Amino acid sequence: MNKLKTFFILLVLFACSNQKEKDLEIDLIDHVTRQLEYAVEISEPVRDSILTSPRTIVDGELKLVRSRDWTSGFFPGNLWMLYEITGDEKWKEYALEYTLPLEQEQWNGKTHDMGFKMFCSFGKAYKNTGDEAYKKILIQSAKTLVTRFNPAVGCIRSWDHNTDKWDFPVIIDNMMNLEFLLWAAVETGDQSFKDIAITHAQTTIKNHFRDDNSSYHVIDYNPETGEVENKHTHQGFAHESAWARGQAWGLYGFTMMYRETGMTEFLIQAEKIAAYLLNKPGIKDGEIPYWDFDAPNIPDEPYDASAGAIIAAALFDLGKISADGKLYTEVAKNILESLSSEKFLAPVGENKGFLLLHSTGHKPHNSEVDVPIVYADYYFLESIIKRNNFEKTE
Ligand code: GLY
Repeated sequence: MNKLKTFFILLVLFACSNQKEKDLEIDLIDHVTRQLEYAVEISEPVRDSILTSPRTIVDGELKLVRSRDWTSGFFPGNLWMLYEITGDEKWKEYALEYTLPLEQEQWNGKTHDMGFKMFCSFGKAYKNTGDEAYKKILIQSAKTLVTRFNPAVGCIRSWDHNTDKWDFPVIIDNMMNLEFLLWAAVETGDQSFKDIAITHAQTTIKNHFRDDNSSYHVIDYNPETGEVENKHTHQGFAHESAWARGQAWGLYGFTMMYRETGMTEFLIQAEKIAAYLLNKPGIKDGEIPYWDFDAPNIPDEPYDASAGAIIAAALFDLGKISADGKLYTEVAKNILESLSSEKFLAPVGENKGFLLLHSTGHKPHNSEVDVPIVYADYYFLESIIKRNNFEKTE
């Protein structure tokens, strides 16, 4: 009888805690929906055909960017995700409004950021509408992106700037373009997109990582021989430091590469990065990283909520495909909980419509330090979706 009683008490407690979690989820979705309503309300009157996408706040003002900016795809991506979450057609209309001005980027071969710009916007437009016109734009974008691949190096070139410093710079962030190429391979049947993605990822494993599994930001190659010429940072504290968002891009990129290809070498790399991150103080408990894990004045350094959001989104996936999945899922949930707390989640009607506070874009240039940034919101929303999907299949 006593055992039965204990069983029922535990059952009720379990049901209550599940209900509490569900209520929190509903509250969070309501919160982000109302905040994005506000974001659209305030960006509509100030955006035009040139400045198309909200990016951040500068001197108290909403900053919008041109389609060629690397962040232009995130705001439309956020609206598409809200459409996926709510099913409300109005979000589809808004999402299309912010997606279509990016069309010309399909021809822009001066950037490696094609995945961020086009897959986050048109990729979701195609996924949610099935409109072949968007697929055509995406495939042209993928063709343009691979013009930056150099077979001698085995990588897609990242930047064309700073030619005084670098001959052929490849940044860890570039791992984030590869999902787009894998998608293009499936959609077109052209294996070369996949080959390029795999080669880029394998070259990155070879040259981007230190013995402790942290990664450099920029590897500079000799474009004729493929030899490594420099191992640098651009947005981190020092060449030998671990820039937080860079570690997050790497974790996300290799997790995605394993998820999409099933190649074990990518899972091993993702797990190595995860081990590096989970060893950092507080990360297992969901603490949000400072902008660089080796920044000199921690804890008196700015956070990078975007790094936290990217890590959470990656860990939800790694949680599903790794033998240590339970731990990764737990950490992802902890990070999502921190991001959803008062410290990081902006109140509705404030923060110029951005969801999260406290991201850091480029600290060494004193640019976008401790501010809201649109890509933090993007990976926060992605984490919410992944968490909810996860709960459904658990
Ligand atoms: N891809 C540029 C950045 O993460 O800031």
